[in-house]
Amino acid sequence: MGGQVAIITGGGTGLGKAMALEFSRLGARVVLASRKLENLEPTAREIRDRGGEALAVPTDVRDPAQVDNLVARTAAEFGPVDILVNNAAGNFICPAENLSVNGWNAVLGIVLHGTFYCCRAVGRQMIERGQGGKILNVIATYAWNGNPGTIHSAAAKAGVLSLTRTLAVEWAPYGIRTNAVAPGPVDTEGAASQLWASPEASRVVRSQVPLNRFGRPEEIAWAAAYLVSDYAAYVNGEVLTVDGGAWLNKGMFVYRQALEQVRPG
Ligand code: COA
Repeated sequence: MGGQVAIITGGGTGLGKAMALEFSRLGARVVLASRKLENLEPTAREIRDRGGEALAVPTDVRDPAQVDNLVARTAAEFGPVDILVNNAAGNFICPAENLSVNGWNAVLGIVLHGTFYCCRAVGRQMIERGQGGKILNVIATYAWNGNPGTIHSAAAKAGVLSLTRTLAVEWAPYGIRTNAVAPGPVDTEGAASQLWASPEASRVVRSQVPLNRFGRPEEIAWAAAYLVSDYAAYVNGEVLTVDGGAWLNKGMFVYRQALEQVRPG
């Protein structure tokens, strides 16, 4: 990744931070974008302290003008974008019948609309430059089977999956590869506070993972680094699931508990 310019939305915290640190370790110049500068600056400083190059650009991805500004500032400071990671997200558990219009709009706006705005702004620049590029979208395994309690996020991630596959074909002639990574439950502060806040909820979520543990942020960052690297030069329109086998556990192994009971020892 030496010298390549990577924009990572939501890059100050959680999975985005892990990706920023890993991409920087691999030689990329990283641009961190999210709403709050106070989330971005400490990560940018950490990267610079390690000898890397990082730029923090406060951006609400729901606003196309702010997204255009992000791409312009990146070009001015670091040059044209080689890698875009759409990682910014919002999520909370709420019964569908109680979800307000604002709540629905907030999550759809960040996840689906924000991903499109970023793809459009960066894609235009990549097409004009004529040297290709890599786009990576962070989705979730419930993009394909839904998720009771987070209807907004499930619908948005399903939309991002479709967007990923559409752009993979539409922009392939420009040398732009578009892929997605689908993390399972990863132990980040944001996910823990929004999705498994109590010890009991945390235990239940973990028990659904065949590997019987939460993922670590760097384990998603390694998969992301692969997908935007030349090791994945022929991978386009694909989703790499990194979830300890969790999504397969829903239905296919309904007899798993019974199996445990008949297992010797
Ligand atoms: N349950 C029900 N509704 C909720 C909610 C919850 N836990 N959290 C937010 N909402 C609703 C708000 O009530 C509001 O609707 P209203 O105006 O009808 O009351 C709407 O969502 C927007 O909330 P607000 O806080 O004004 O939006 P925001 O743009 O500042 O925040 C969110 C966006 C809602 C996605 C917020 O959770 C967020 O910023 N999350 C970022 C971090 C994150 O979610 N990480 C999860 C990683 S898995």
